[in-house]
Amino acid sequence: MAATFAVELRSVTKRFGSFTAVKDVSLGIRQGEFFSLLGPSGCGKTTNLRMIAGFELPSSGSILLGGQDVSQLPPFKRNVNTVFQNYALFPHLSVRDNVAFGLEMKGIDKAEKVKRVAEALEMVRLPGAGSKKPNQLSGGQRQRIALARAIVNRPQVLLLDEPLGALDLKLRKAMQLELKELQRRLAITFVFVTHDQEEALVMSDRIGVMDHGVLRQVGTPQEIYDRPADRFVADFIGDTNFLPCRVVEQSNGTARVQVAGMTMTAASDQTLVDNSSAYLAIRPEKVQLYASDGPRIPEEERFAGVIVEAVFMGTDTRYAVELAPQTQIVVRQQNMNTAAGRFALGQKVDVGWETVFARVLVS
Ligand SMILES: Nc1ncnc2c1ncn2[C@@H]1O[C@H](COP(=O)(O)OP(=O)(O)O)[C@@H](O)[C@H]1O
Ligand SMILES: [Mg+2]
Repeated sequence: MAATFAVELRSVTKRFGSFTAVKDVSLGIRQGEFFSLLGPSGCGKTTNLRMIAGFELPSSGSILLGGQDVSQLPPFKRNVNTVFQNYALFPHLSVRDNVAFGLEMKGIDKAEKVKRVAEALEMVRLPGAGSKKPNQLSGGQRQRIALARAIVNRPQVLLLDEPLGALDLKLRKAMQLELKELQRRLAITFVFVTHDQEEALVMSDRIGVMDHGVLRQVGTPQEIYDRPADRFVADFIGDTNFLPCRVVEQSNGTARVQVAGMTMTAASDQTLVDNSSAYLAIRPEKVQLYASDGPRIPEEERFAGVIVEAVFMGTDTRYAVELAPQTQIVVRQQNMNTAAGRFALGQKVDVGWETVFARVLVS
């Protein structure tokens, strides 16, 4: 028997009037997994989370928690907790009472309550903050209290809706690592919503990428980055060159395509029609620059070009290389030891990449 999912969505659709916010989403989130829903603003992430929590009911389809259909259960009958972006702490209550709030509602006895609140504050590394008021804390500390308030209930699943969105960049990066570490220690399933692709890559075991209510791809950060299922995913996550191309032929997961008069091989999972137009997608850091046409590494495509732009960015230099009139490719090269190996505007170069890193995408 297949293991039961912590959270499962089966063909879930959510309509608001004539507008469809979530379209036929099917998804299984594993026990103890850090799962992120990633996509641009308005793509339906929060709506999905609210349906898992029970604040919204699906228009069709079903939602299961630990294998049990909870589609029609109210929020308080679901063993999940939600952490919102705006913390939603009670300003007049102490940190201790804020954290204890959920336990109060459940009628847990005093000794147990004191113990669990202390544990939760310990977990978020603010053991001494119990008697403070929220306005005496920094943004990052308030966010940790909001987390403590959720984990004190020992939910099976913690839902987090852009919980780090209000923090400045440096604090957010520190909190990303802290939150991931906390999730490992607690072994609670996290469903984390973010529009920040880097945040999703850094934190997640797996990511579900959404666009206009549709779940486009589910995979590990590396799968999503290295093998984007479509143009939307390739474009939304990381930087990608899209070179217009013409399909020559396709067989067994690879294709021959023509780009600016040059024929090359690339990976392809989508179904391609011979002689149709498509895009060759390749990440800027996967492209190598060579001063001259030296020995090739195996399975490498190599083309001549001219440097038409060079931007020094500290760790990297970003080049634009013209391969043919109207056809440019962006290349990122790490600045290693010395200025040797850097290229000048107008310099003739060869560009090359391993065929596995290039993908043909039609849609
Ligand atoms: N209660 C509602 N009534 C009408 N439209 C809604 C409601 N909630 C969300 N929407 C719409 O559904 C779409 C998805 O919203 P949301 O799930 O909040 O997106 P995200 O969290 O990805 O930014 C948006 O276009 C939003 O305006
Ligand atoms: Mg949202």
